[in-house]
Amino acid sequence: MMAIPDNATKEQIQIVTPKHVAIIMDGNGRWAKKRGLPRNAGHRAGAENLRRIINASVEFGIEILTIYAFSTENWDRPKLEVQALMKLFARVLNKESQSLHEQGVCIHHLGELTGVNPDLTRKLHDALELTKHNERLILNVAFNYGGRSEIMHAVRQMLADGIAADDLNEELFNSYLFTKGLPDPDLVIRTSGELRISNFLIWQAAYAELYPTPVYWPDFGRDELWGAIEAYSQRNRRFGQTDEQIGKA
Ligand code: FPP
Repeated sequence: MMAIPDNATKEQIQIVTPKHVAIIMDGNGRWAKKRGLPRNAGHRAGAENLRRIINASVEFGIEILTIYAFSTENWDRPKLEVQALMKLFARVLNKESQSLHEQGVCIHHLGELTGVNPDLTRKLHDALELTKHNERLILNVAFNYGGRSEIMHAVRQMLADGIAADDLNEELFNSYLFTKGLPDPDLVIRTSGELRISNFLIWQAAYAELYPTPVYWPDFGRDELWGAIEAYSQRNRRFGQTDEQIGKA
């Protein structure tokens, strides 16, 4: 049982905690613009907010948190912004790895590291190694990640392994994805009002509940995460079946 946060609604909602929450952390740039700040200040605020959301995820009993940190398409942003983001990721890894480890967070990486700065790659490997036995929260960092490229990567690997067409099934396919061994996301949150999936977990999110919110990522704090869990708790997940089949009619 978890403690219901101070501002939880007074009505009785049967809280169902999603096991796996995935977040498209969008709106850093607009958050900064609204304040007359450079975009990078928005990314820094976004990184600070990530710390709050990791703490809240642990508090609420979420088991897996997947964050979209940098997509394969984000390389096309202005060079200076990409450089600043890479520096920010390296700084966050330096600053937070030890405390995430002490908190029981196990960091996983989703994506490919070819072409990524070697120093950043090493820092990421160190963080994965340091935290690999932790069990409190799995933090999947989708970095240099794209859903289509993940699927292509899996298919290439399966062909290289000589998998026969008749042997292919969804379970086997899952085992070739970066998320191998993990359950699919139950809830996908996208901040900043956009209503797109943007190449994020396009295979794994097939039956996820979607929660778009107009709040910009740096402002999406613990209370907003709780709001998303409340909304999730009231969804009727049917996985393509009827209410009768899932016993809700
Ligand atoms: C989206 O905002 C954000 C990103 C592309 C980068 C995500 C990075 C962070 C949240 C920083 C912290 C992350 C880690 C892993 C330390 P945007 O720039 O697309 O905002 P906009 O749509 O308003 O321009």
